[in-house]
Amino acid sequence: MSPTSTPESASRNQDLPFELIEVVEVSRTEIEVVADMERVVCDRDGAVATLDRTPSDDRPMPTLPRDQRIVITIDGPAGTGKSSVARSLAKALGLDFLDTGAMYRAAAAIAIDHGIPASDAEAVVRETTKADLHFDWMKDPPTILAFGKPIDHRIRSADVGEIVSPIATIKPLREHMVRKQRIIAQQHPRLVTEGRDQGSVVFPDAAVKFYLDASPDVRARRRAEQLIASGHSADLGSITAEILDRDKRDSSRADGPLICPKDAICVDTSDLAFDQVVRTLHRHVLAAVGR
Ligand code: DC
Repeated sequence: MSPTSTPESASRNQDLPFELIEVVEVSRTEIEVVADMERVVCDRDGAVATLDRTPSDDRPMPTLPRDQRIVITIDGPAGTGKSSVARSLAKALGLDFLDTGAMYRAAAAIAIDHGIPASDAEAVVRETTKADLHFDWMKDPPTILAFGKPIDHRIRSADVGEIVSPIATIKPLREHMVRKQRIIAQQHPRLVTEGRDQGSVVFPDAAVKFYLDASPDVRARRRAEQLIASGHSADLGSITAEILDRDKRDSSRADGPLICPKDAICVDTSDLAFDQVVRTLHRHVLAAVGR
C-alpha cells in the first residue's frame, strides 16, 4: 500500500465526520488478501485453521487480576486452530503464551542444519541442549532463539515439518523439553501453553486444561483451503490420509502421546468460528477461577 497524502485530501478532511490521517491507494489484490486474512487463520506452523474470523460477539473479555498465577494448557492435533486460539486466549486474559511445538521444531531445524539424522537421538539431544533454546518474551508472540539467534522463520520451513514428528518421539529430547517448559512456567507463572502433552505430562496440575479437536474431514478441508489460498493445489484425499497418519503417529508414541487428559474440557472446533472458540475457552477459565 502506498501513502498518497495530497493537498486535496487535506482540504476534504474538513468535511469528514472523522479525522483523516492519510489516504492510501489500495489495489484490488490487497483488498482480497486482507479480506481473506479475516477468514484464514494460520497456525504458527503455517498450517491450517480456516476458522471463520467473523466476530460472534463484541463484548469485552475481562483479563485476570495481575496477581493471579495460573497455568492453562491447550492440547490437540494440528488443524484445530489451537495455536491461534491459545494466543488469543492468552491476550484476552492478559497471560503469556507458550508455543511448545516451536521447541520441537527448533530441535528438528538444529538436527538438519548440523547434518544430524533424526535416528541419531543422542546427537540430536546433545546439539539441542548446546543450542540453549529460549524465547524472546519482549516479542509478540514470543520468538524462539537457538545458539543466541532467532530461528522463527527457519522452524516453519517444509524440511523441518517433514522430520519434526520423528524428532518429537525421542525420549531424552522430550524430557529435556519438559524440564525447560516447567522452568518457563516458573518464570512466567501466568501462562497459556499449547502442544500435545501439556495437560497430560508437563502440567498435570494446571488450573484449566483444554483439548481442541475437529473431525479429520474438517481439518483436511481447512488445510486444503489454506493451500489453495496461498496459491498451491490441494488433493483432499491425500491431505486426509496425511492427517490420519500423523494423528496415529502422535497418539501412539510411547512418550507424551497426544491424548485428551481426563480432566480436560474438550472443545470440538469443527462447526465453530474462531471467536466462538476463544470465547468458549475464556468463559470456562473465568468459571474455573470463580469469576
Ligand atoms: O504444533 P506444531 O505443529 O508446531 O508441532 C510440531 C511437532 O511437534 C508435531 O509433530 C507435534 C510435536 N509436538 C509434540 O510432540 N509435543 C508438543 N508439546 C508440541 C509439539
